[in-house]
Amino acid sequence: MEKRILIYGGSGGIGKALAKKLSADGFRLHLVGRNNSALEKLADELDATFTVGDVCDEELFSQVAEAVDGPLLGLVYAVGTIDLRPLNRFSSEDFVRDFTINAAGAARAIQAALPALKKAEAGASVVLFSSVAAQKGFGFHASVGMAKGAVSGLTLALAAELAPKIRVNAIAPSLTDTPLAKRLLSNEKTADALARAHPLQRLGKASDAANMAAFLLSEQSSWITGQILAVDGGRGNLQGNA
Ligand SMILES: NC(=O)c1ccc[n+]([C@@H]2O[C@H](COP(=O)([O-])OP(=O)(O)OC[C@H]3O[C@@H](n4cnc5c(N)ncnc54)[C@H](OP(=O)(O)O)[C@@H]3O)[C@@H](O)[C@H]2O)c1
Repeated sequence: MEKRILIYGGSGGIGKALAKKLSADGFRLHLVGRNNSALEKLADELDATFTVGDVCDEELFSQVAEAVDGPLLGLVYAVGTIDLRPLNRFSSEDFVRDFTINAAGAARAIQAALPALKKAEAGASVVLFSSVAAQKGFGFHASVGMAKGAVSGLTLALAAELAPKIRVNAIAPSLTDTPLAKRLLSNEKTADALARAHPLQRLGKASDAANMAAFLLSEQSSWITGQILAVDGGRGNLQGNA
């Protein structure tokens, strides 16, 4: 049987690192994102299929479901935002946008893929992305912290609801060097200070989270569900020596 995995955000920093790893391991991939040329190039390289669209557009999910109707071993939702501002500078549209892209989009993606995930005879695995900011308080993170907190709640609820056939886990990264974090890391001094704020003294690499996602998709994690796994250089729960 074809080993098929669906990755929303498959052309992004973490999504692309994961797609390359899974493809090398013999998985067939379906990728989703907004940028047609980025997806086309990667799909060509990995012999994958893809759908172009925005997770804020409800129609995207049914289009993806139509494209992926066979058994699906895994679904990864690696789409997100980092919109950091003081509380007073967020509008209600900003809050709703962050919630839609990070949390409601993940729920809609799982709903649409459920028939295909249920067809996987040996069971399926869903991997979502929360954040260190849903576990520890950081200034200016009100909107993304709230949205990623919702992802953690979604992970627990669906892990309970979909067991035993479908496992649901989330990864909670700290700052990881991807296009999403580019603006925060554009100043070398700031990037260096942020790296040093991690007990393991570096920023995340896309492969750090991608390796965890590959593990959560694999048979090796077949007794793990309902977990929010920190991939954060120790930033979420350690004080460090300084
Ligand atoms: N990087 C970090 O520091 C960090 C920290 C904590 C949590 N995370 C989480 O980790 C996950 C992966 O992040 P990343 O760093 O790999 O981000 P990234 O490099 O920006 O990649 C995001 C991917 O999602 C797609 N995407 C973005 N907005 C979309 C939308 N509205 N509709 C459809 N596709 C959309 C992007 O492609 P297009 O632009 O083509 O649409 C891209 O493929 C996210 O959930 C993020 O919140 C990251």
